[in-house]
Amino acid sequence: MARPLDGTVALVTGASSGIGAAAGVALAAQGASVALAARRKDRLEALAADIRGQGGTALVIEADITDEQQATGAVERTVAELGRLDTLINNAGVMLLGPAAQAPLSEWQRMVDLNVLGLLYCAHAATPHLLHAADNDPRHVADMVNISSVAGRAARLGSSVYNLTKFGVGAFSESMRQEFAKRYLRVSLVEPGATATELASHNRPEVLESLRGQFGQRMTAEDIADAITYIITRPRHVAVNEILIRPTEQER
Ligand SMILES: NC(=O)c1ccc[n+]([C@@H]2O[C@H](COP(=O)([O-])OP(=O)(O)OC[C@H]3O[C@@H](n4cnc5c(N)ncnc54)[C@H](OP(=O)(O)O)[C@@H]3O)[C@@H](O)[C@H]2O)c1
Repeated sequence: MARPLDGTVALVTGASSGIGAAAGVALAAQGASVALAARRKDRLEALAADIRGQGGTALVIEADITDEQQATGAVERTVAELGRLDTLINNAGVMLLGPAAQAPLSEWQRMVDLNVLGLLYCAHAATPHLLHAADNDPRHVADMVNISSVAGRAARLGSSVYNLTKFGVGAFSESMRQEFAKRYLRVSLVEPGATATELASHNRPEVLESLRGQFGQRMTAEDIADAITYIITRPRHVAVNEILIRPTEQER
């Protein structure tokens, strides 16, 4: 039976865990050939083996996308080895929380380097290929899905620079959406609330301690992959610009 993404190619950044890994599996299940990019190659290999075991096509790309050349290389390898690029899931991100007053500057740099610059390097390299895909078969439409956060909609005490990066992703996405709307490159924003992944684990122990109990109910990475899949599988004339998605019990 034909699947919605048959014949298409998707690149997912941050595919070695959490939302990116779940998105890779979900898009492959819809027929997309998937390029999986992150730094932990062993994790990517295991995921690719799972996808191939289900009859899918997966390409492993070991890349640190805070490095411009590696980010561009991830896009170029996807096109060279899988033949085209219809979908970019700009997902890789890091969330380092805590009071601004005591924050190591290196944590701020890590967030800006990955959540902003890494995303921009991938978006910049991918855009010509996405526009080309939108002009050509199979679907005459292409997608860039940028993963922001509830933190891109509401600033909160203790997440100043994470807020900054995710607000930036939202503004960039909306401007890009307007620029490419008539060329059928849909630029979408996904803003998850609390989701059970490795994301919080990269915080310093004292920050982790202060976070304990702050997040109650959490969604699964598959819940977010489901929202991403919904966006990409809409018919050509429908663009889901933005999905803000929280666990039911999350108030803010
Ligand atoms: N979990 C939540 O509650 C939540 C809520 C809102 C938004 N988000 C957003 O969702 C996105 C995915 O996060 P997640 O929750 O799935 O967290 P996660 O499990 O920690 O996944 C983060 C991914 O980013 C990759 N990554 C980190 N540094 C990288 C680099 N320099 N180059 C390439 N890849 C890199 C990691 O792989 P490697 O370490 O192998 O490189 C990993 O695959 C992030 O943008 C995050 O801000 C998450």
